[in-house]
Amino acid sequence: MKNRSRVEELADRLTAGKALTREEYAYLIDHRTPELTHQLAKAAVAVRERIYGRSVFIRGLIEISNYCKNDCFYCGIRCSNDHCDRYRLTPEEVLRCAKEGYELGFRTFVLQGGEDTFLTDDKLCALIRDLKKQFGDCAVTLSLGERSRKSYQRLFDAGADRYLLRHETADPAHYRKLHPETMSPENRMRCLRDLKEIGFQTGCGIMVGSPYQTSSELAEDLAFIRSFRPDMCGIGPFIPHRDTPFGNETPGTAELTCFLLSMIRLIHPAVLLPSTTALATIDPGGREKGLLSGANVVMPNLSPKEIRGKYELYDHKLHEGEESAQGFRALSEKIRSLGLEPAVDRGDIRKEE
Ligand code: 5AD
Repeated sequence: MKNRSRVEELADRLTAGKALTREEYAYLIDHRTPELTHQLAKAAVAVRERIYGRSVFIRGLIEISNYCKNDCFYCGIRCSNDHCDRYRLTPEEVLRCAKEGYELGFRTFVLQGGEDTFLTDDKLCALIRDLKKQFGDCAVTLSLGERSRKSYQRLFDAGADRYLLRHETADPAHYRKLHPETMSPENRMRCLRDLKEIGFQTGCGIMVGSPYQTSSELAEDLAFIRSFRPDMCGIGPFIPHRDTPFGNETPGTAELTCFLLSMIRLIHPAVLLPSTTALATIDPGGREKGLLSGANVVMPNLSPKEIRGKYELYDHKLHEGEESAQGFRALSEKIRSLGLEPAVDRGDIRKEE
C-alpha cells in the first residue's frame, strides 16, 4: 500500500510537469504497472494534443550510405561486419528519392547514414544546396553521426535545418560498454552541444533495453532530456543483430519503450517524438502503440527499394509496407484510424509549452 501511494504521488507530479529526481524516475520505471502505463499514456496524449492537436508528422527517410568507420557493438553496419553489403547513393539518387517523396507531399527529408568518410563537407554541402534549391519549402534533417564543430557549421550554413544524433546513453560508464575505445561519451555530448549552439533543431535519443542498461541509466537519460531539451528525441528498443558482439543479447521491449515515450512527452511536452521503425519491428502493433503513448512523428523509408534491405542496423529491420513511402496511403489510414491526422508539412517544433 505504501509503495502504491508513492507511485501515485510520483505519477501525479510527473503529470503536473514537475521535475523528479533520478531516483524517482528510476522508482517509477521499476514499479510500473499496466494501470500506471495507461495513466501516463493518457496524460501524454493529452499533452501532445494541447501542443500539436491531432497531427502526426510524416518524414521521408533516405538512407544515403551504410559505410561506417565506427565499430559500435550493437550496430549491424559497424565497420568490422564483413557480411554487410555496402552501398552509397549518388547525389542524383538522393534527389530522385526526395522528388518521389515531394510528390507524395513530404516536406521533411531525413538524410541518414553511417559515418562514411567519403561524405566530405564539400559533397554534403553541395547535396544540401541542391535539395534546398529544388525543394525550397522542405526541411532537411541530417543524421550522419559525429563530426567536428566546423563541419556541423558548414552543413548548417549550406541550409540543413535539423540534426539527429542519438546520445545512446547519458551514463558515461554505460556508453563505454556499448562502444569501442575510439569513441567517447564526452565527444558525443560535445557534438550535441555544438549542434544546438550552431542553431540546428537537434535530436538526441537512446535504445531501450540495450545491454547493461538498468532503470538507473534510463533515469539518467530522462534527466538529460529534461535539461538538454532536445527538439527531437528518437527512442526504440535495442534489437540484436546476428553479426555483432551483441548478437545474442536480449532485445528491449515495446512495453518499456512505450512507457518511456509517455514519460518523455510529460517531461518535455513540445518534443517531436517518433514512433520508430525498431518499435514497429519488435511488435507488429508497435507503430500504433507508440502513437497512443505520446509519439507524434513517423518516418517512412524513401530509399530506393533495391538498397533498403542493406541498411540493416538490427535483424529483420522492417522496410516494406507502411515503413515505406509507397505504403504511405496505408500508413495514413492507420494514423486516421487512431483518431489522428497525418501531416506532411515541415512540422517544426512548437515553442509554446
Ligand atoms: N537495435 C536498435 N537500434 C539500433 N541502432 C543501431 N543499432 C541498433 C540495434 N541493434 C540505433 C542507434 C543509432 C540509430 C541510427 O540506430 O541508436 O543511433
